[in-house]
Amino acid sequence: MLQKPRRKRTGTLCLDASFPNPNKFMQLSEENAFKAMRGTWQPVANAVDLPKGKVIGYKLLETELVVARFDDGALLAADVACPHKGARLSAGCIRDGELMCAYHGWRFDASGACQSIPSLVAPNPDKLALSHLHSYPVKERYGYIWVKLDASSPHELPEVPEFEDPRWTYKMGPPMVFGSGWRREVENYLDMTHFAFAHASTLGKCADPKIPEMDIQVHPDGFQMDAPFPALTTPHEQPGKLQSAHHRMQRCFLPNFTTIRQSFTDGDERVLVHIPSPNTQESCTVFWSVAISPDFRGPPPDSQIEFAIRVLDEDRQMCELQIPREVPINPARGGWGVLVTPGDTLANTFQKTLRQWLTGRTPQ
Ligand code: FES
Ligand SMILES: [Fe+2]
Repeated sequence: MLQKPRRKRTGTLCLDASFPNPNKFMQLSEENAFKAMRGTWQPVANAVDLPKGKVIGYKLLETELVVARFDDGALLAADVACPHKGARLSAGCIRDGELMCAYHGWRFDASGACQSIPSLVAPNPDKLALSHLHSYPVKERYGYIWVKLDASSPHELPEVPEFEDPRWTYKMGPPMVFGSGWRREVENYLDMTHFAFAHASTLGKCADPKIPEMDIQVHPDGFQMDAPFPALTTPHEQPGKLQSAHHRMQRCFLPNFTTIRQSFTDGDERVLVHIPSPNTQESCTVFWSVAISPDFRGPPPDSQIEFAIRVLDEDRQMCELQIPREVPINPARGGWGVLVTPGDTLANTFQKTLRQWLTGRTPQ
């Protein structure tokens, strides 16, 4: 008689007592997830792409925003529709220190207060007060512009000191739009068994899809994975240092902020920040950046970014191949995949802890 194969544990997973009981799962909805994420800071632009005097549009969690930086550096994030006739303020401009709508020229200051309505014969304080924009908390940190749609939420950004240490060098990647849900993208970033296939032309065909022993620890705000990372033997020379054996520490701050710290045998270190900012239920913009330790012995930051763009674009194609476009919010029997292998341990840890994170933020 055939014996049922026993499942091998690939990592050690320690559940933290501060998470709600994972067995008492409720049915969640995509609306629950977006509602909970409105209480978190999400990136909407690289700071360099929003210099003084610039106005842009961004869709965050299905909410269309105008984001502007005024001449004095003040930032504004607000609902994009002009309170007059609904024209998108992202098509406006900064004029004489104020945000001006492109349609009839109404003007707003950095707090969102309407300062002038050109068609009014005389200034009307009532009309001006009624025309206040609905604005949101906005700030700049780690080279990004961040917005939090629920101002009452106490959520703070995780600490990534390497991005604020003047001895380190950091470089921003160009944000990349994925035509897939944000959880597909997080799973892809946590997945180490696709390198030999999805990245055959960049990371090399010889990458071993059998993953090393991982140590996974669950924390109140997410989880951490530690593992030795074997060298990727590849016919491609560039960038050899980045493919050499190193220790990898991956930290996921729920819901979608991940850092990877790579510690190389020569003492050099590299920290990656990676955040798929949800645009809609089925699309996200991936914000990513790289910091390298002082006197890093490896490819210069520009060529690291150039190489990483090619790798990320291969990931984008894989995410966009998947059906459905987003990982189901409620697991089917057996979990979040048809046939889950030990290599999916990290992705499953993400789905389980995210589910607990969402459960704690969803009214029962
Ligand atoms: S729609 Fe903006 S000023 Fe009229
Ligand atoms: Fe990848």
